[in-house]
Amino acid sequence: MANVKSPFSLFGKKILVTGASSGIGKQIAVSIVNQGGYVYITGRNIKNLNLLKNQLGNNNCKVFAVDLTEFEAMIKMVKEIDYIDGLVHSAGLISMSPYKFIKEEAISRIFSINYEAPLKLTTNLLKLKKIKNSSSIVFISSINGSCIGAKGFTLYSSSKGAISGLVKSLSVDLAKSKIRVNEIAPGMIVTEGVKSIEDSVSKASINEDMKKYPLGGYGVPEDVANGCVYLLSNASSWVTGIKLVIDGGFTVL
Ligand SMILES: NC(=O)c1ccc[n+]([C@@H]2O[C@H](COP(=O)([O-])OP(=O)(O)OC[C@H]3O[C@@H](n4cnc5c(N)ncnc54)[C@H](OP(=O)(O)O)[C@@H]3O)[C@@H](O)[C@H]2O)c1
Repeated sequence: MANVKSPFSLFGKKILVTGASSGIGKQIAVSIVNQGGYVYITGRNIKNLNLLKNQLGNNNCKVFAVDLTEFEAMIKMVKEIDYIDGLVHSAGLISMSPYKFIKEEAISRIFSINYEAPLKLTTNLLKLKKIKNSSSIVFISSINGSCIGAKGFTLYSSSKGAISGLVKSLSVDLAKSKIRVNEIAPGMIVTEGVKSIEDSVSKASINEDMKKYPLGGYGVPEDVANGCVYLLSNASSWVTGIKLVIDGGFTVL
């Protein structure tokens, strides 16, 4: 049972979470409800979204099955939402694309979901006055692109670095409405989304990579969700424009 008086409580807050059908976004939705909040959960996979709805309870959430790269579908969802106190952008595509093989199609595939979708969703929610004053917006970027680079990740890094720029300027624009805009940059978190990358490298190199994290091994979705609860809650009411790095110390070395 959520402690309503805690500064970290999300009691009474309605929060839209993208990418809630899997991985980090799914855990963020669960953690929001655990803190007393209500969630609008989005993704494309309706089966996964309905499973999450059953887990969270009908009274605590509403499902929107939407491909966020399809503008008309996104706008339809925006119009159906009454208002929100929080917005979390977790939908994204994690993809390796060695620079020699970058094609036009890959640029638009990665940028359309990792950069354009969160930008367009946020600005259209704002234009239609769906985001209440004193709300909190959280973008899930990555240390890859916002803090460091990595071999074979030119496109992915660029899309996430662009999010860092967006957060800084939007936080200034929205400060007069007391809407806070922040970024969480995770290190490697074990989810479905990184499985294809893990499958393409040897177990030995994964073990070697894990040793680069001073706190040991890779993170879990709860590590990111706990930071997200803080940024959505009143506990962070004087925090805007920051990058919260959650990476087990990886970028310290
Ligand atoms: N895992 C990591 O190590 C890590 C590290 C740093 C940053 N991140 C970032 O964290 C976020 C979540 O990653 P994850 O590991 O949780 O990945 P994931 O398990 O693959 O989840 C990705 C989510 O994005 C949604 N999505 C993808 N394309 C979409 C589209 N066109 N329209 C609507 N929804 C779409 C997926 O929904 P459907 O499957 O239903 O389409 C899914 O819910 C991403 O932005 C990623 O870049 C992850």
